[in-house]
Amino acid sequence: MVKSMKADLHADLVVVANRLPVDRVTNPDGSQGWRTSPGGLVTAIEPVLNDNDGVWIGWPGGTDEAMEPFTDNGLHLVPLSMSEQEIEEHYEGFSNATLWPLYHDLAARPEFHREWWDTYQRVNRRFAEKAAEVAAEGGTVWVHDYQLQLVPAMLRELRPDLTIGFYLHIPFPPGELFQQLPWRRQILEGLLGADLVGFQLAGAAQNFIRLVRQRVGHKTHRDLVYLPDGRTVRATAFPISIDARGLDELSRTESVVKRSEEIREALGNPRKVFLGVDRLDYTKGIYARLRAFAEVIADGHFDVDDAVFVQVAVPSREQVETYKVLRDEIERLVGRINGDHGKLGQPAIHYLHSSYPREEMAALYRTADVMVVTPYRDGMNLVAKEYVACRANDDGALVLSEFAGAADELRQAWLVNPYDLNGMKQALLDAYRAEDRELGRRMRAMRKTIRQHDVAAWADSFMSSLAEVRGAHRKTLQPARKS
Ligand code: F6P
Repeated sequence: MVKSMKADLHADLVVVANRLPVDRVTNPDGSQGWRTSPGGLVTAIEPVLNDNDGVWIGWPGGTDEAMEPFTDNGLHLVPLSMSEQEIEEHYEGFSNATLWPLYHDLAARPEFHREWWDTYQRVNRRFAEKAAEVAAEGGTVWVHDYQLQLVPAMLRELRPDLTIGFYLHIPFPPGELFQQLPWRRQILEGLLGADLVGFQLAGAAQNFIRLVRQRVGHKTHRDLVYLPDGRTVRATAFPISIDARGLDELSRTESVVKRSEEIREALGNPRKVFLGVDRLDYTKGIYARLRAFAEVIADGHFDVDDAVFVQVAVPSREQVETYKVLRDEIERLVGRINGDHGKLGQPAIHYLHSSYPREEMAALYRTADVMVVTPYRDGMNLVAKEYVACRANDDGALVLSEFAGAADELRQAWLVNPYDLNGMKQALLDAYRAEDRELGRRMRAMRKTIRQHDVAAWADSFMSSLAEVRGAHRKTLQPARKS
C-alpha cells in the first residue's frame, strides 16, 4: 500500500542507492502503483530499515517530475528524479559506459567524456544534498554502488555529524586499469568521505588501499587509511549473499515443484537441462558459453534429445550502444546454433529475452541439472548462489567462472576460465556426466556455505563494523532482526 510520508522527516538510518527498491506497476484497475523489486539488497536492508524507521533515497526510473516521498509496504521511500540528460550522461554514460567497463577488466572499451563527468558530479551532489536533508542529527547513511562514489565526501562536507558507510557491489579494479580514469583522484577522494568502504572481495579492498596510498598520498596500514584531519577510514571486504533460507523454502513449495515438472516437459524431457540466467550484459560471457555448448554437440558428445540449454537474458541498459550490439550478436548466434543442431520442435538453445518473477526463477533453478555462470568479471554473481539455494535435493552441478566473486566461496563448483573455450567445453561435459555421489558431495558443501553466509549476516556485519569504526559517541543503531 502506498502512503505519502511526512515532509519534515529526520531518519536515523538513510540508504542511498541509484535506484529505489520498487518497480512501477499498472494495477488491474489501470491505476499506477509500486511493487518491491525482487532482489537481495531489499531483502537484506528492509529489516534494518524497519527497525530504525529508516528511509531509502533513489531514482524511481523514468524522467518524471519531482515526486513526493511515500511509504510502500512499510518502506519509507524518497524518490530523486532525473532529467533525460541526466539519465543519458550520469546513468547510461558515466556510470554504465565509463565506470562499468573500466571496473570490469575492460570487457568493453570505456568512454571518457568530460560532459558525462560533469553530470555525474551534479547528480551525486543532488543525492548528497537529499541525504543531508533527511538524515537525523548523528544518524547513519549507507551509500551504495558505483553510480554514487562521490556522495560520501559531498555528504561529509554538508553533514560532518553523520556516520557514513559505502558499499561497492561491483569489482574495484587494479591500479593499472583504474589509472586510465581522468578523474581517478576525485573518485578516490569521494569514497574517502565514508567511515567504512565495503567491497565484495579482499583483493578489491587492497586495490583501493594501494591506490589511495599512491594517488592521494595518505598513510595506510592494512585495511586502514589515515587522513590528515585525524579521521580514519576502513576499507574491507563484505561478500554479499542471498536470502538462502527464503529461496530454499520457495523451491520446495508445491507450486514451484509442479511448475518445474511442467518446464521439463515443455523442453521435451531431455536427459539434462543446462541453464544460464543473466542480465544481458557483455561482462557475463553469454556468447562464449553458448558457443562452448554448441561445440560439445558438434563434437558428438550429446544431441538435443540428451541435453538442451535454456538461456534467460534479462533486458538491461537497452539504450547503451554496447548492449544493443551484444543483443544482436547473441541472437544471431542462437539462431545459428539452432539452425545447425536443432530438430523440428526441438531447439538446442531456448532463448528467453525477459525477466521473470521469483517463483518462476526458483522453478527454473529446480529444473536445471547444470547451471552455467561464466562471467569474464563479476563482483559476486548472486545467480550462482540462488541456484545452490534452490537445490533442496542436494543435486545439480554448478559450472562457475573463476572470475566471479562467488568462486571464492563456492569452491566445489566446476570452476572455469571463461576465456578458455576448450576448458569450458570440458567442464560442461564433466558436469553433464558427473555421478550422483559426486554431485551430492559438492552441492552439500556449497549449500552449507550459503546457509552460513546469507544476506542478513552480510548486512549485520557491515552495520556492526560501521558502528565500531565511528565509535560509541554515535547513536547506536538497532541490529537487524534475524529473519
Ligand atoms: O550489479 C550492479 C547493479 O547496479 C545492481 O545493483 C543492479 O541490480 C544491476 O546492476 C542492474 O542495474 P541497473 O538496471 O540499475 O543498471
